[in-house]
Amino acid sequence: MKALVYQGPGKKALENRPTPEIAQATDAIVRVVKNTICGTDLHILKGDVPACAPGRILGHEGVGIVEKVGAGVTAFHPGDHVIVSCISSCGKCDYCRRGMYSHCVNGGWILGNVIDGTQAEFVRIPFADTSLYHIPAGANEEALVMLSDILPTGFECGVLNGRIEPGSVVAIVGAGPVGLAALLTAQFYSPAEIIMIDLDENRLDVSKQFGATVTIANNDGKAVEKVMALTGGRGVDTAIEAVGVPASFITCEAIVTPGGVIANVGVHGAKVDLHLERLWDRNIAITTRLVDTVSTPMLLKTVQSHKLDPARLITHRFRLENILDAYETFSHAASTNALKVIIEA
Ligand SMILES: NC(=O)c1ccc[n+]([C@@H]2O[C@H](COP(=O)([O-])OP(=O)(O)OC[C@H]3O[C@@H](n4cnc5c(N)ncnc54)[C@H](O)[C@@H]3O)[C@@H](O)[C@H]2O)c1
Ligand SMILES: [Zn+2]
Ligand SMILES: [Zn+2]
Repeated sequence: MKALVYQGPGKKALENRPTPEIAQATDAIVRVVKNTICGTDLHILKGDVPACAPGRILGHEGVGIVEKVGAGVTAFHPGDHVIVSCISSCGKCDYCRRGMYSHCVNGGWILGNVIDGTQAEFVRIPFADTSLYHIPAGANEEALVMLSDILPTGFECGVLNGRIEPGSVVAIVGAGPVGLAALLTAQFYSPAEIIMIDLDENRLDVSKQFGATVTIANNDGKAVEKVMALTGGRGVDTAIEAVGVPASFITCEAIVTPGGVIANVGVHGAKVDLHLERLWDRNIAITTRLVDTVSTPMLLKTVQSHKLDPARLITHRFRLENILDAYETFSHAASTNALKVIIEA
């Protein structure tokens, strides 16, 4: 089968690989119909994720059709249409029993990281009963690719951890797909203001269409002053970091109001300064989270009832044989205006 393989920092290739087989009774083999590329795949390619070794098939998002199941799988059968969760959950360990699937001692974020992922024609899914989701008949399957990772990530790591409430003033630093997913799902809670900050004018325009009340282009590095001016010197109740570089976290530290929350979403590959000399007395909370995907069933209901339309995040489509072009397009969003790119097998 064709697969996109990580070959060490800065290197990747489309290779021919053997089709995966059932290895454990709890596995399923899924024929990947549509997958996508995540900002985290770009972090892997930068060398920010040392767990991911050269030779790994990348990808932790996708929808497909169950091809085979192991003897221990009871909830899925060949032919079922499924969403692949980016998090594999055994459902049995202490972390899974607490709903923290991201830290499953037998799984967690392993797909496209420490085991082969979805940017291929087939993928082996461990713990299929608790790591796949049934797609309802008649659903827009392409839109549901957004439920593998970015919608639960924006919602759980940004909106829930950020404790957004009716009337909250929210800033989201980073208007990539994950920041936009946080923007869409923040509106479940009717915040008063959602300020989107990015460097990319197109992404800020999209943010406006997606419900941002204010957008700030941070190309002049003056986002902090602008947020403070907009909020009458008060700052924001929730500052969501959705980039994954030191500068954006430091922006969040500077704009959080007393009693507020900095909700980090970005994957960081370099150390970041924590300005406790300014923050120690401000009653703030800083949260970090690897997405658990516990909210996937709830988000699926909001998509089915048209409260949330994740298809809005899709800008480009490619065939799997052209996945290198998809990477080029996704990684040059400033010139291509790409948000999420769909890759069809
Ligand atoms: N915690 C988790 O479980 C989890 C899950 C998925 C993705 N992520 C991470 O979330 C982050 C966002 O993902 P994405 O797919 O949207 O990535 P992306 O790279 O597409 O988007 C990042 C955005 O940040 C903007 N940006 C860069 N520097 C900035 C700055 N100084 N100020 C303001 N904006 C700036 C870029 O223009 C871009 O639009 C990544 O770090 C990704 O790895 C985390
Ligand atoms: Zn991801
Ligand atoms: Zn577990």
